[in-house]
Amino acid sequence: MSNKGGARIVVDDDDEHVSPTDLSELLADGTKESHDRAENCSFVKDFLRGRIKRELFKRGTAALYFVYTVMEEEMEKNKDHPHVAPIYFPVELHRSEALARDLEYFYGDDWENQISLSAGTKPYVDRIREVGQKDPVLLVAHSYTRYMGDLSGGQILKKVAQRALKLPSTGEGVNFYQFEGIHSHRGFKQLYRSRMNELDLDMETKLRIVEESNRAFGFNMMVFSELEEIGKSIQEEVQEPGLGHSHAEVMQGGDINKCPYYAAKMAAGGNPTYALQLATTLVRYPPCQVLLAAWVALLAGFTAWYIF
Ligand code: HEM
Repeated sequence: MSNKGGARIVVDDDDEHVSPTDLSELLADGTKESHDRAENCSFVKDFLRGRIKRELFKRGTAALYFVYTVMEEEMEKNKDHPHVAPIYFPVELHRSEALARDLEYFYGDDWENQISLSAGTKPYVDRIREVGQKDPVLLVAHSYTRYMGDLSGGQILKKVAQRALKLPSTGEGVNFYQFEGIHSHRGFKQLYRSRMNELDLDMETKLRIVEESNRAFGFNMMVFSELEEIGKSIQEEVQEPGLGHSHAEVMQGGDINKCPYYAAKMAAGGNPTYALQLATTLVRYPPCQVLLAAWVALLAGFTAWYIF
């Protein structure tokens, strides 16, 4: 099924029917470690804190332009492939035009002559081209890794960039983060997950997609590392830390309730709701159940010793 032309998209609000063998579940579980690594690399953490140099932001935008251009070209070429068609959403998702507008804002009319494919981005671009030509089912992994991530944290990253780089509030320079064709990010992600789950794939192929997604995370890390290195040689004022965003704020609208670290932090701050949430999280976690039982036994022992 193709979605070209922005046909009306109906989002099924019921996401309860997931099975551990669903591709969306395998991907979420199978890329968790990669995601943690990506979230914790210095470049991403600095960005979140609002510590981003304009020159690096421009170069990052250029890197994304090359990545999305090849990804969207390959998606377009394979749009009738049975494993690509259901997740082909050009109107809602495609980013290369938005990135071109951002680059025009930063570099001017001559932007195309001023940017080039960096050494750290090239392997990523080459790999997407290769899978598009030889193994199109793996395009699922590449589009999942980027678009689902963009839909998860984009709004916050947009605000961070606008504040740190003093960009106009009207959106110039950050078109990439603005999905004009999507009203509910959460709803759209649900739809995307259900489309991935409907793909007719055997287990081996699903696992190959998970592996490819981990590769895609690795390529993203290469781009971040390269930017971080370049950043070291750029003399430029960055905004004082403190004006950026915390992990917790980015998690909002995402899966904040599932983050035990956040709950622990809030409980320590004396918030009873989060203390309850932390307790619930711990009680559900089997090793914690054992610890809890040991605690209760110990407490009962002490009480008995004290009373008698
Ligand atoms: C500080 C950096 C980051 C933070 C705080 C963050 C946060 C989040 C959150 C809260 C979600 C869950 C959204 C939900 O359940 O609806 C999510 C999902 C996701 N993120 Fe990130 N993210 C970060 C960096 C990245 C990077 C660098 C990538 C890849 C290039 C990425 C790719 C993804 C993907 C693919 C998902 C979808 C997971 C799924 O539901 O299957 N994220 N992220």
